[in-house]
Amino acid sequence: MAGFDLLIRGGTALTPAGRERTDVAVRGGRIAAIGDLSRAAAETTIDAAGLHVLPGLIDTQVHFREPGLEHKEDFESGTRAAVAGGIAGVFDMPNTRPAITDADTYARKLEGVAGRSWCDHGHYVGASGDNSDSLAALEPLPGCCGVKMFMGSSTGDLLVAGEEAQRRVMASGRRRVAVHCEDEARLRERRPLAEAGGGVARHPLWRDEACALDATRAIVGLAREAGRRVHILHVTTAEEMDFLGAHKDIATVEVTPQHLTLAAPDCYAELGTLAQMNPPIRDAAHRERLWRALGEGVVDVIGSDHAPHTLAEKGRTYPDTPSGMPGVQTLVPVMLDHVHAGRLTLERLVALLAGNPARIFGIAGKGRIAVGCDGDFTIVDLKARRAIAADWLVGKCGWSPFLDRTVTGWPLATVVRGHVAMLDGELLGAPVGAPMRFEEALRARP
Ligand code: DOR
Repeated sequence: MAGFDLLIRGGTALTPAGRERTDVAVRGGRIAAIGDLSRAAAETTIDAAGLHVLPGLIDTQVHFREPGLEHKEDFESGTRAAVAGGIAGVFDMPNTRPAITDADTYARKLEGVAGRSWCDHGHYVGASGDNSDSLAALEPLPGCCGVKMFMGSSTGDLLVAGEEAQRRVMASGRRRVAVHCEDEARLRERRPLAEAGGGVARHPLWRDEACALDATRAIVGLAREAGRRVHILHVTTAEEMDFLGAHKDIATVEVTPQHLTLAAPDCYAELGTLAQMNPPIRDAAHRERLWRALGEGVVDVIGSDHAPHTLAEKGRTYPDTPSGMPGVQTLVPVMLDHVHAGRLTLERLVALLAGNPARIFGIAGKGRIAVGCDGDFTIVDLKARRAIAADWLVGKCGWSPFLDRTVTGWPLATVVRGHVAMLDGELLGAPVGAPMRFEEALRARP
């Protein structure tokens, strides 16, 4: 039998045929065979007996801070953390310094990360409020996964406030618009609540449920008007889930592991400003509604919103502290622990982190274990019980809101187009990551 580049032997793979004990082989970066390959030879073999072989998992929301904020993270360190945690592909956010809002900043970003990425990558272009006319022309750029719009201020200066400006963004282009839904006017009006003392526990009071719901309702209305699909990032409230359940034809929904795992007020008592993010971690009743929405199919995607800040920055006095927490490396272990606890199935997790991202954003050749698709895999041990330890974290900021938590379920290997990037916690070889290809952009070519 012909030789392969990589052979993953004896694992339980999640393929279109279901959960099956099978071998999987890769040649030239693509999946070449699935089945009994016991007589085949390969340059590299992974013994996956007792392990589960998943499609390469994709984190569709990370902030790797390059260019301009590399003291928090850079593309090399961020993608190193990704593959260490079982993530084989990322979509990076544009709220850098400068922000990625035109062809020039986009080209420089891609040049800067070339040869330094441990996994494949997509990039959002940022809507700035005054680049609406040029957004459509940016969509076919290599690696472009869509447009990001901030309706409320968060980290950086990207902001599209006001209905007219938001309408113009929605009218320019066709690709998915990923939206941070918090209403800017209400955020400004309520800011004194955060400044009145009382610390970070007031964060969800300042940026309350109505801030989120008003913006989510508004953008879904504008999406209908424009006939363009939106992706609502990090949904946090019961009210939004009730609303979004009635708009599945036009809006897809993301939740984060931290909103599914942490809850106010305990998270603020235990983690202080490390638990500060936008939109905020809310109480357990909201968290339960997020889980119900996940079970009902209202939630399409889990993204980490990996948003690192240094401990020194987080050590200032609230509300002078930056919002955001790292999460790309802990996404898979934290979610596997929820699988172990019976809150979702492994199949559902794979849909949320591979199949649905590929379908929603039109990623070419990723998202499933199928012959002809990219040889991307996340190999996990569902029984491994481990602590999320400080010396395991490889991102630059060096902390995690999940530090010292013991979880059941752990990523043991990350494979990117047939290259083994991580095995048993060790990084192997060199960064081979490349810009992802998107179906719309492929179609746009003559
Ligand atoms: O908490 C957040 N941090 N929310 C965002 O929307 C941005 C992010 C960041 O970039 O720090």
